[in-house]
Amino acid sequence: MPTGLEERFGAAVSVARTAGAVIRERFATRGAQTYEMKGHQDFLTEVDSEVETLVAAAIARAFPDDGFIGEEHGSAGRTDGVWVVDPIDGTSNFARGIGHFCISIAYVAGGEPVIGVIYDPMRDEMFAALQGRGATLNGAPLRVSGVSDIRAASVECGWSMRRPVPDYIALCARVMEMGAGLYRCGSGALGMAYVAAGRLDSYCELHINAWDVLAGVALVREAGGAVSDFMGQGGLARGAPILACTPALGPALSRASGIAL
Ligand code: IPD
Repeated sequence: MPTGLEERFGAAVSVARTAGAVIRERFATRGAQTYEMKGHQDFLTEVDSEVETLVAAAIARAFPDDGFIGEEHGSAGRTDGVWVVDPIDGTSNFARGIGHFCISIAYVAGGEPVIGVIYDPMRDEMFAALQGRGATLNGAPLRVSGVSDIRAASVECGWSMRRPVPDYIALCARVMEMGAGLYRCGSGALGMAYVAAGRLDSYCELHINAWDVLAGVALVREAGGAVSDFMGQGGLARGAPILACTPALGPALSRASGIAL
C-alpha cells in the first residue's frame, strides 16, 4: 500500500462526517427558496460552496502537497495525488427539501480512485472503501447483490441535460424492455453506494462528472462489482459514461447501455 493512504482514508471519513453535520444542519434550517440555477436543471445552493470550502481547507491543512478538484471551485490541474469532491451530490433533492443527498470524497493515485467515501448525513450512513481493503457501511463489510437475472434486477439510470433527452429515454426503454425495474433518485454517488451495498443491482449514466462518481467507483469495485473504465475514457477531466453492476448482469446491461465493461 502506497505511503499515506491509510492516513488519507481516515481523513476522508472524518472530513465527510464533519461536513455532513454542516449539511444536515443547513438542510434543517434552510428557507423557502435557497437555490439558484447554474443551468438547465442544474441546481446550486450556498451550502455547496460553503461545504466545498470547508473540505478543501481541511484537506489542504492535512496534506498540503495534494491536488484538489471540487464541483464548485474547479481544478488545480492535477491528475494524480488528487482529491475529487462533490460537497452535495443530489443538490436538486437538497434544494427541493428531499432528504436524499450525500457528500462524496475520492482520492486518485496511480490513475485510479483508491479511496472512496460517501456519507449520507440524513441516514447517518458512511460508505467507505480503500483499495485492497474492501468496502464498508458504518464499518460492516459490503458486497454487491447476487442478482444475475435481469428480470429481477433494480437498475438506476442517472440523468442530466449533458446528453440528449432521446438518448436517455432510449436507455430507459432498453433497460425496462429487458425486464429490469427502473430508478432515478437524483444522486449518482448514492446510486453507486447502493450498488456496492446490494440495494440496487446497477447504476448507469450516459455522462457523469468525476466528482459525482469516483468515490462510487472505488466502492463498487471493492464490493466485488463490475465497473466501466471511467478514468480510461478521460472521465477525470471531462466526465464519461458509467456502468456499475453485479458481475453477472454485466453482459446484458452493457448491451442495453452501449457502455463497455
Ligand atoms: C448530479 C446527480 C445526478 C446525476 C447527475 C449529476 P449534483 O449531481 O448526481 O443524480 O444524474 O449526472 O450531475 O448536481 O447533484 O451534484
